Amino acid sequence: MTKQDNLEVKRFAGVAAAGRVEDGMVVGLGTGSTANYAIQRIGERIRDEGISVVGVPTSYQSAFRARAAGIRVADLTDCPEIDLTIDGADQVDAAFNLIKGGGAAHTREKCVADASKRILIVVDGSKLAENLSVPVPVEVVPYASALVAQHVRALGGVPVLREGVKKDGPVITDNGNFVIDCAFGIIGDPAGLGTRLNTVPGVLTCGLFTEYQEKISVLIGEAGGCRILTRR
Ligand code: A5P
Repeated sequence: MTKQDNLEVKRFAGVAAAGRVEDGMVVGLGTGSTANYAIQRIGERIRDEGISVVGVPTSYQSAFRARAAGIRVADLTDCPEIDLTIDGADQVDAAFNLIKGGGAAHTREKCVADASKRILIVVDGSKLAENLSVPVPVEVVPYASALVAQHVRALGGVPVLREGVKKDGPVITDNGNFVIDCAFGIIGDPAGLGTRLNTVPGVLTCGLFTEYQEKISVLIGEAGGCRILTRR
């Protein structure tokens, strides 16, 4: 699939997800290229259909995009209960465990996911896998980054401090922290690994989302349209 085709299927997924937003909803706004298409489309629906939506962004990027699209923005303090969140993912397994944080936004994404009644994950088909296996982003307090890397190695992982693009040195998250991408190969027990990573001193949040399967549906963009997966 070319990069352009990939963006097109992401657009299908994002636009279809925006179609599920209802008048009066509080909507969690995810981060990344697929979620951006949803944000754009929600803005169009506010303008064209007159629906009323409050958006709760998961990053500076989604807040900027939402405001530009004409979506009223609130934070978790204003809206601790969210009707529906639309967000992307880096990988989705057969049980609807997720790896997130490719855009370093997973801490706020997890807060918004937790506050949400329903979560619609928007992806292209390349993100689906039987088992999770891409590196797990771990947001860490800079002071503790070497300590966290040591713990990751002890857990059998290979930690790599994420470097900035058009910024020398490490990526700094929206919360002022570093991200360590931790490769574990195929992850046999995502929930167990998530618990172990999240309890290392200095870890803010790891990108394993294993707590929300019951409220997740997955909308997959494909050539010519999309399909939805829900848990039985
Ligand atoms: C942001 O930190 C991630 O959790 C994104 O949701 C993820 O990287 C998906 O990005 P794309 O939609 O751009 O593939």
